[in-house]
Amino acid sequence: MTEPQVLTTVPGFRAALAELLAVRRDAGVVAATVGLVPTMGALHPGHAALADAAREHSDIVVASVFVNPLQFDDAEDYRHYPRDLDADIDILASHGVDLIFAPALEEMYPGHPDGPLVRVSAGELGRRWEGASRPGHFDGVVTVVTKLFHIMAPPICADVSASFEAWFGEKDAEQLAIIRRMVTDLDHEVTIRSVPIVRDDDGLALSSRNRRLSAQDREHALQLSVALTALARRAEAGERLDLEGVVAGLQAAEGVGLDYLVVVEPATLRPVELPADGVLVDEALALVAARVGPVRLIDTMTLRPHGDAM
Ligand code: PAF
Repeated sequence: MTEPQVLTTVPGFRAALAELLAVRRDAGVVAATVGLVPTMGALHPGHAALADAAREHSDIVVASVFVNPLQFDDAEDYRHYPRDLDADIDILASHGVDLIFAPALEEMYPGHPDGPLVRVSAGELGRRWEGASRPGHFDGVVTVVTKLFHIMAPPICADVSASFEAWFGEKDAEQLAIIRRMVTDLDHEVTIRSVPIVRDDDGLALSSRNRRLSAQDREHALQLSVALTALARRAEAGERLDLEGVVAGLQAAEGVGLDYLVVVEPATLRPVELPADGVLVDEALALVAARVGPVRLIDTMTLRPHGDAM
């Protein structure tokens, strides 16, 4: 295991990445792929899966660890968000990351909270579901992701043609759809790649926020993946989805404060219009968000209609 370099400033990170590319150029390499794994730290096996995928597909793997205040609509959530940079570095090192960008708040947003004055908007996609419940959340996400793309994109390095890929988890399905759309709409020179959700054996989707769940909260939280699985099974079996029934079940579930459970089109996040028989026709995403114990959890599952190949 090689120790990754940890850089805390933008110029320092850029110089270190340029140096890694220069080493390749000197070794006669003419093309290199740089894979970015953006994170807010508190890493778990879901992040490790992102790093592993980036490692498999890229020549150089870079990761960021930055808890982005712009995407928290709740100051308490930001304050309690778990932070353990040393543990994160160990995890990233053991998954083959070459460079880690771990800036302080002042490096990313000088003068915060008065800055940044200019931000990126997620537009109408950023106001649906999670965005409706957490106003400004996705604007904060796309602002920091844009900055990370600009900071961490491979520099132009004579004689090495570098391409840039960024890796995101499919658990944050709305975030992924919005970032893909941002890349198209704003012409970012980066390819977005994704990795399936990693779940515990009991079905709970891994999340940094799970650390704050008590044993009882965890039990309650399992009802989210149970509901999604029920929808996925019905879709695959060509049965009526009965979304209303599943929603009612979750509304009545103990320890779950349901915010939404919806079935949406994957790219637009618009609700799917089901035909009169209630059977799903095209691939869709089921999205759920709920308060469980002290945290807000989200989960998602792809619904594949009967007869669709995996
Ligand atoms: O998915 C996350 O952890 C964050 O939203 C991201 C993409 C690192 C931006 O802060």
